[in-house]
Amino acid sequence: MAENERGKEGIKANTLSVRGNKVGLGPWLDEYLDSWVQAIQDPQVSLYGDGTFMMGTREEEGEMFKLTKKEGGVNFAIFALPEVKLIGLCGIYRVNKTWLNGHLGISIFDKEFWGKGYGTEAVKLTVDYAFRFLNLHTIQLNTSGFNARAMGAYRKAGFKEMGRWREAQVVAGKRYDEVYMDCLRSEFESPKPGWFDLEAQ
Ligand SMILES: CC(C)(COP(=O)(O)OP(=O)(O)OC[C@H]1O[C@@H](n2cnc3c(N)ncnc32)[C@H](O)[C@@H]1OP(=O)(O)O)[C@@H](O)C(=O)NCCC(=O)NCCS
Repeated sequence: MAENERGKEGIKANTLSVRGNKVGLGPWLDEYLDSWVQAIQDPQVSLYGDGTFMMGTREEEGEMFKLTKKEGGVNFAIFALPEVKLIGLCGIYRVNKTWLNGHLGISIFDKEFWGKGYGTEAVKLTVDYAFRFLNLHTIQLNTSGFNARAMGAYRKAGFKEMGRWREAQVVAGKRYDEVYMDCLRSEFESPKPGWFDLEAQ
């Protein structure tokens, strides 16, 4: 596809900042907010996302993206390739500029795209961005003990389990561990294809 042609949903291919094999990442734009807010009204998407079903509003979610940017983090839209279809979002939030660490969050909010490798590649590209361009040293994430698919994707992307807060979460009366994972810059292997690399020029 020529860079100035539009994909299926009218999204310009040239809004992509990086192209992997299955996914591309581009900056998260206000115009994608409705898709996200609509998706999290589905309890399955919401509960896998953060273990809650709070039915966030456009305003609340918009504020969250602004806060992430204000704190020095980044919000990406995830597009399936080659059609450049918006399928999710990911980012680095709660950046600590003194210690150079941050947290990773991701949601493939189009359920058709679960379990097909899109999440793993999006995580790798986001982590690589954080190490290359935000200069972070280490990244943490947390997930729910029932979210085996997320843990599988995170492990494949280079994260290791660092501990569990046992029975910290409750969904529909049943308790689950909160699982913490981390990834060190020194242990991470950059994905290929991936971000622009000065060394390779
Ligand atoms: C979590 C998420 C980003 C993962 O992305 P994905 O594209 O679905 O995952 P991938 O296909 O890349 O990888 C999942 C891995 O976990 C494994 N897996 C899937 N379900 C599993 C299960 N029930 N038990 C064990 N492993 C499982 C898969 O086998 C796969 O590994 P493989 O490729 O070696 O077979 C995506 O599913 C998502 O956004 N889900 C909804 C919101 C969410 O859970 N966000 C994360 C919050 S912490």
